[in-house]
Amino acid sequence: ELPRFVKIVEVGPRDGLQNEKGNVPTSVKIQLIHKLVGAGLSVVEATSFVSPKWVPQLADAKEVLKGIQQEPGVRYPVLTPNLRGFEAAIAAGAKEIAVFASASESFSKSNINCTIEESLVRYRGVTAAAKKHGLTIRGYVSCVIGCPVEGTINPPKVAYVAKELYNMGCSEISLGDTTGVGTPGSVVAMLQAVMAFVPVDKIAVHFHDTYGQALANILVSLQMGINVVDSSVSGLGGCPYAKGATGNVATEDVVYMLHGLGIETNVDLNKLMEAGDYISKELGRPLGSKTATALRKL
Ligand code: HMG
Ligand code: MG
Repeated sequence: ELPRFVKIVEVGPRDGLQNEKGNVPTSVKIQLIHKLVGAGLSVVEATSFVSPKWVPQLADAKEVLKGIQQEPGVRYPVLTPNLRGFEAAIAAGAKEIAVFASASESFSKSNINCTIEESLVRYRGVTAAAKKHGLTIRGYVSCVIGCPVEGTINPPKVAYVAKELYNMGCSEISLGDTTGVGTPGSVVAMLQAVMAFVPVDKIAVHFHDTYGQALANILVSLQMGINVVDSSVSGLGGCPYAKGATGNVATEDVVYMLHGLGIETNVDLNKLMEAGDYISKELGRPLGSKTATALRKL
């Protein structure tokens, strides 16, 4: 029933650090990425080529991407909101990009300053250019369960945006519960709606632990056949345009659960915790993973 192997997409350096109040030095971002790859993670989302007016935290995207030592077999996707970001990303050596749409009209406006339809038009341009360059493309749908402004988002809306991203050439569709309101009940209904249009092996899940539901939601997703999970070391992050959205589910907690289920990840939990120690210390905050907190006290 459950998959034998789960691919973890580590989003901490992007989804996590985009939300930091203080300034995180470029060298720390690069070190963090190296440590995460050293722990065995094969996909580490590195940064975003977005407007520095909107996300000043990632204004050093070019320096980060150029500064990392890219290992063979490891993927380093970067977010690109438009053609301008796409051009900057390939100039800096990106081989994989991600476009990010929303299932909520209000969130689309506040996050990327356009309607859902406008974003899809824009992303058709970005994905067409990416395909010409032979790049791999990831597609995000945010607010797949709820929106900070609109409340409940209906599954057909999520399915529609996911289908559009899939049809324009995204090889993986990541479904983001941006506000973390989902439960196994609402998540199953949403996944069923998306799976009517997107093959299950092209779907990734992206949960936030705001309501403490993330691991339960991951487990039901695995039971439905999904085997790609996004998470963030030490639970870093949230989203600057979703107030109160606390961190992504912690990678350490996901790895602990998966290994407990006998599912392989290729991730070394001890090395992963060292990456978590490193960034928590740099940011001056306690560990954001329950697993790491427990194991450090043993
Ligand atoms: P806009 O203001 O509508 O666009 O922003 P604009 O074209 O008028 O550009 C505004 C300024 O930014 C201009 O500068 C542009 O040149 C510049 P000015 O002329 O005023 O000096 N600009 C850029 N600079 C660098 N790189 C670019 C770029 N594009 C324009 N690519 C825009 C529209 C999309 C650019 C803006 O809204 C933006 O960058 N948004 C990104 C916000 C963001 O990154 N949010 C976090 C993503 S997280 C998420 O979506 C959820 C997810 O994590 C899943 C989950 O957690 O649930 C994926
Ligand atoms: Mg997130």
